Amino acid sequence: MSAGSPERPGDPCVFVVLGALGDLARRKLVVSLYNLRANGLLPRDFAIVGVARRELDDAAYREWVTRSLREFATRPVDDAVWGEYAERIHYVRGDFEDPETYRRVGQALAHARADHGTAGNALFYLAAPPSEFGAIVRGLAAGELMREDEGWRRVVIEKPFGRDLDSARALNRELGSMLREAQVYRIDHYLGKETVQNILVFRFANGIFEPIWNRRYVDHVQITVAEELGVEGRGAYYESAGALRDIVQNHIFQLLTMVAMEPPSTLAAEAVRNEKVKVLDAIRPMSPEQVLVDAVRGQYAGGLVGGERVPGYREEPDVSPTSQVETYAAARLFVENWRWAGVPFFVRAGKRLARRDTQITIHFRRPPLLLFQEAGIESIDPNRLDILIQPEEAICISMRAKRPGAGIRLEPVKLHFSYQQFGGVPASTGYERLLHDVMIGDSTLFHRADMVESSWRIVTPILDVWATLPARDFPNYAAGTWGPAAAQELLARDGRRWVDPEG
Ligand code: BG6
Repeated sequence: MSAGSPERPGDPCVFVVLGALGDLARRKLVVSLYNLRANGLLPRDFAIVGVARRELDDAAYREWVTRSLREFATRPVDDAVWGEYAERIHYVRGDFEDPETYRRVGQALAHARADHGTAGNALFYLAAPPSEFGAIVRGLAAGELMREDEGWRRVVIEKPFGRDLDSARALNRELGSMLREAQVYRIDHYLGKETVQNILVFRFANGIFEPIWNRRYVDHVQITVAEELGVEGRGAYYESAGALRDIVQNHIFQLLTMVAMEPPSTLAAEAVRNEKVKVLDAIRPMSPEQVLVDAVRGQYAGGLVGGERVPGYREEPDVSPTSQVETYAAARLFVENWRWAGVPFFVRAGKRLARRDTQITIHFRRPPLLLFQEAGIESIDPNRLDILIQPEEAICISMRAKRPGAGIRLEPVKLHFSYQQFGGVPASTGYERLLHDVMIGDSTLFHRADMVESSWRIVTPILDVWATLPARDFPNYAAGTWGPAAAQELLARDGRRWVDPEG
């Protein structure tokens, strides 16, 4: 939550997209910039410089951008809104390893400054494969493009930030040797989601929840990121990632820190991020024996999703027919601090599950005394607070109420706050807020180097055990189901069960 992130347009700047013709630029960045413009949040003094290997000129790149916008827009495209910006789109051809590329980018920045009033500010968005991150940052630094003599220079880096603790440390070290941490914006699109940002408001702007937000009242917490989608043509990437790296290490851990963190002393970026990293630091990494008990992996076989037959993971393009990569991961984690000691946090993420569903549920303890036994009621489901992130965006409290009429009959009821009824969340890519934050220099919603390392510290022991012991039962869940049986057992062992998103 940025410290009152102002509703003002971003600072004048050049938006440099390195990987200008890639999927991310095509599907998300162009559309997000358009949405920002439509909301009056893009600076007037602005330019886009696309950098990629292909031979193109400005006119051809402008056409490519306009086509992408029309194809992926989240709202009707109004030419009057975009028109004046189309002129400010430029293209630089070049290899990321070639110093000449950065010299040309430098020239483009100088032109933008003269022609479009961009004031020497530049945002470099690394929309290229992670294997190129190092070369790009080295090139930018060697080309003196990161010097802030005449304006700010910021780098936005997409995940993955490394693939384990050692590689993340190496990447951070390399970035740290060329840039100040304040110039680095490690982006996580989950933090751009409106309901995710609402978690801190919900917790800290309402006095009634915080007193019960601890081990005395909370039995356990569940975080689910379930997707119906498979790997969608990204088999090659996914083979080097898997669910733990793709979703748990970043998105799920961010959700977890927002639920578990202490109130920050202010909403300034460092105060918020300090509290988040403390949560990650308090999660005990598992021993190899614990991994076998507290972590579960799965891989989907073919099955039916939304009534359609879909292939198994091993049948997807660019995936090995004997792949050991997990498309489902679940774990039981403990945040070992004063507030949460002994409260399990169950997390799970999976592809090709029964339904798209991202939610956090806080399960409270049962009432201490079962008063209604005399009325024949033997057990009462404990209260639950659901933070629904997608597809529905809502906050919901499950409780018991007396059914009107003679005697005492208890029924489950829900107190339901829906974002849709509240005014709705405007259709967006989720990147808008984050890009605007970079343009105003607010890094609250971005990963800091220590957060990245701390989250890798938690998942690396699990990855190590999984890499050493091949899964003998893969594939172990059918597409369109809720994952492997072992994930149910992970909770059943303690007499708990995963929430049923349908229920
Ligand atoms: C990305 C992952 O970070 O998040 C994808 O790489 C995943 O595999 C996506 O599909 C999910 O995002 P969302 O916003 O649809 O939940």
